[in-house]
Amino acid sequence: MLKGKHIILGITGSIAAYKAAYIIRALVKKGAEVQVVITPAGKEFITPITLSALSSNPVISEFFSNRDGSWHSHVDLGLWADAMLIAPATASTIGKMANGIADNMLVTTYLSCKAPVFIAPAMDLDMFAHPTTQQNLDRLRSFGNHIIEPAEGELASHLVGKGRMEEPDKIVATLETFFDESMTLKDKKILITAGPTYEKIDPVRFIGNYSSGKMGYALAEACAARGAEVFLVSGPVSLQAKHPSIHRISIESAEEMYQCAMDVFPSVDAAILCAAVADYRPEMTSAEKIKRESTGEMTLKLVPNKDIAASLGQIKMADQILVGFALETSDEVHHATDKLKRKNLDFIVLNSLRDQGAGFRCDTNKISILDQEGTLTEYPLKSKQEVAVDIINKLVSRLK
Ligand code: C5P
Repeated sequence: MLKGKHIILGITGSIAAYKAAYIIRALVKKGAEVQVVITPAGKEFITPITLSALSSNPVISEFFSNRDGSWHSHVDLGLWADAMLIAPATASTIGKMANGIADNMLVTTYLSCKAPVFIAPAMDLDMFAHPTTQQNLDRLRSFGNHIIEPAEGELASHLVGKGRMEEPDKIVATLETFFDESMTLKDKKILITAGPTYEKIDPVRFIGNYSSGKMGYALAEACAARGAEVFLVSGPVSLQAKHPSIHRISIESAEEMYQCAMDVFPSVDAAILCAAVADYRPEMTSAEKIKRESTGEMTLKLVPNKDIAASLGQIKMADQILVGFALETSDEVHHATDKLKRKNLDFIVLNSLRDQGAGFRCDTNKISILDQEGTLTEYPLKSKQEVAVDIINKLVSRLK
């Protein structure tokens, strides 16, 4: 996948800079041509001699060569690249990239680069969690840059938390997947439903559920990162879609989600129905706030909502893929098999509230995927971002 690809590797001043040597080796082994651009601080952590020997190219750090005064053109470099990878990326460089502070060769090259950009942050846990860093990363995401999330673990400070640069093999695998034509979602349109629905009782009250939308938003970001155009029909959640290829359509009720999904579905290649849709809504919605004093004891009559998944299953074309979710509390596989058939899904993602770290509101999930052929694949507990990648890999194989 990486054979003949031109990769700019940006290295910044972090302890993790030594891992850049492994990244270069792996990229070169896979046939890529690597041009290293290092910040002045980066050179304090790893020597250009090591990097040039591994990449078989002189390392660029300054705008001009000290030896002969020749100019290093960040513009030419930016145009040469098939991808730019910044690994490790410090909080400082991330801040400069997000705000156009082009005071070194790395950031000027970034601003000149038209190719996809991958950023692997590396910093202490509190620096990573700081709102400044998070806002800068969100800004970079909104430009379509790919953030390779740091892992949790022991940091250079000996503190333990999120901020460790992702391991070199995983970083290289991310690039490989990106360039793998069989794994791409380029030119594909995907509908994703996410979050809860709110079913109005009166102007101030509703029936809802605990869905946070995290799984659906992780799926939307992962599909967009693979090149898809995403239509994210979202119930009320506090999350934001970051990637510019995600069109978010905000709805409240199951009926609104149904209308929206039915409108969008005919024009997409696949739909992933991740939303926790309310099965029932109040038969009547009061225009005025219901008063305890005048109402006394009350009974709320509920009527069933339309099943969006089943409705899409009925109008599904032969070349469209429909993916559902099943969140169960018991007899999981039996219920999932039933839903798969009843809703005419191509595969169903099953998670159980019996598993620790799975389901509503968590940042992690533990899933199994059951397909139409009856194959059940179980996955270990992972972050919702990693789970999204597993689901999309399955989707991609189906879309071919
Ligand atoms: O039947 P149940 O709600 O457990 O099915 C879950 C799957 O069906 C999920 O993919 C969910 O998004 C979808 N669903 C739907 N419309 C409904 C109820 C569920 O699309 N009214």
